[in-house]
Amino acid sequence: MNLVLMGLPGAGKGTQAQKIVENFPIPHISTGDIFRAAMKNETPMGIEAKKYIDKGELVPDEVTNGIVKERLAQDDTKDGFMLDGFPRNLNQAAALDEMLAESNRHLDAVINIHVEPDVLVERLSGRFICRNCGATYHKLYNAPKVEGTCDVCGHHEFYQRDDDKPETVKNRLDVNIKLNTPLVDYYQKKGVLHEINGEQDIDKVYEDIKKVLTNLN
Ligand code: AP5
Ligand code: ZN
Repeated sequence: MNLVLMGLPGAGKGTQAQKIVENFPIPHISTGDIFRAAMKNETPMGIEAKKYIDKGELVPDEVTNGIVKERLAQDDTKDGFMLDGFPRNLNQAAALDEMLAESNRHLDAVINIHVEPDVLVERLSGRFICRNCGATYHKLYNAPKVEGTCDVCGHHEFYQRDDDKPETVKNRLDVNIKLNTPLVDYYQKKGVLHEINGEQDIDKVYEDIKKVLTNLN
């Protein structure tokens, strides 16, 4: 199963990806996670990406497309993959089509998690992340079951993303809102788009996604 998870910043892509891999064991490829790991390790690519991410801008397509191409060439993606946060514009979508065509693959589904922008600011400002395993929480909507302890790995340290600061959040949303509609249209025309209402409980959103994915198999 070859999947793309789409949605504006804070729509719940990472949260749902965590749930999807529990039932559908495919590699979860998040370009945001790849950039954050590179920034943490201060690799040349990470240092370059940071300039854009800190401002809420997109990392240039040639960098991002190259990373995804390399990742999709790895063996563990042969039986399926889930892209999270890629593609984000039409140029990246065309590059993805080309990468997949080269290896005789195609997308089975594009899941668009739809949330109105006014809800997203609150989601992003309340988000915190496990420093050990990257699991995502929210202080109001998705707190760990035991306060201060990660549900997934039991670790006790959490952090907030630098780009969840209010100044950056606004630009991230503006940049992505502009790009989202043409991309939705693009996948709609290809007949692979599935719209999911992301303004429901996390478990209900997952139920809707699971229905779509089960029907693909
Ligand atoms: P990336 O890490 O992909 O960030 P993003 O797209 O801004 O998305 P987020 O991770 O912020 O949100 P999410 O949808 O995963 O939401 P989450 O599940 O955490 O990218 C970061 C940066 O990298 C970009 O800004 C860009 O600079 C660069 N980049 C990445 N990909 C790129 C690309 N393709 N091209 C160029 N540049 C790229 O949920 C958010 C919060 O809400 C959490 O606290 C969660 O607990 C809570 N929540 C989730 N679902 C619900 C719900 N149903 N109800 C209530 N709360 C909920
Ligand atoms: Zn953890």
